[in-house]
Amino acid sequence: MESPVVDRLLNLLSETEAEQGKVARMLHDDAGQVLSAIGLHLEVLRGGLTAEQSEQIVEIQQLLETVIARIRAVSRSLHVNLVERAGLGFALEQLACQGRERGSGMMIQLHIAQGERWPNEPAHAAYRIVGELLDNAMRHSAAQRIEIRLQGSTLEVRDDGRGFDAEKKTTGLGLLLCRHLAKRSRLGLAIQTKTGQGTIIKLTLHGS
Ligand SMILES: Nc1ncnc2c1ncn2[C@@H]1O[C@H](COP(=O)(O)OP(=O)(O)OP(=O)(O)O)[C@@H](O)[C@H]1O
Ligand SMILES: [Mg+2]
Repeated sequence: MESPVVDRLLNLLSETEAEQGKVARMLHDDAGQVLSAIGLHLEVLRGGLTAEQSEQIVEIQQLLETVIARIRAVSRSLHVNLVERAGLGFALEQLACQGRERGSGMMIQLHIAQGERWPNEPAHAAYRIVGELLDNAMRHSAAQRIEIRLQGSTLEVRDDGRGFDAEKKTTGLGLLLCRHLAKRSRLGLAIQTKTGQGTIIKLTLHGS
């Protein structure tokens, strides 16, 4: 399905991601480093203080550590270049962790074959697609278990939930965006699902 509107939307999203990357770097490199430097100064100060004052400094240092850790976490979640920097397998692990943190009670399992390396462009698209699929599985499937499996040129997201009618028109944008992202990056996308029988969505690197 050709759609200039969806293509423009995807371009806009890419621009937003580039902006997010800048904010992430600023947070991590600037704010994070200044706070770390403050921590070091405090450590030097501590030497000439009474025991009670020194204890207070330690408390301030602990608070600083918490703030630094939070800044790093926000910076990580904004960093869409994660796939390029750390590889698709690692980026998928982060998605699974974020899913678990949402606390739906569903089991999210990952099976990543060692040493899998997809080219950057399709890997980035696959990462965004899996983000949507995971969100769908968590919101709509009522599954007990969600599995993400990366092996060779195949990436699969499956759940043992209620399944759905993939041909039915919906007002949702998620699957529409997935189809467009897949098409742009020459990824195959196959949806295997039936009401009451779970869902398997398979992505394949083109040509395989
Ligand atoms: N894993 C799944 N299990 C059960 N139903 C699903 C699953 N994935 C998608 N669906 C169904 O397909 C519909 C369309 O999904 P889609 O991602 O396109 O839209 P959405 O999730 O409803 O909205 P949006 O993604 O825009 O927030 C969903 O509303 C849901 O009914
Ligand atoms: Mg959705």
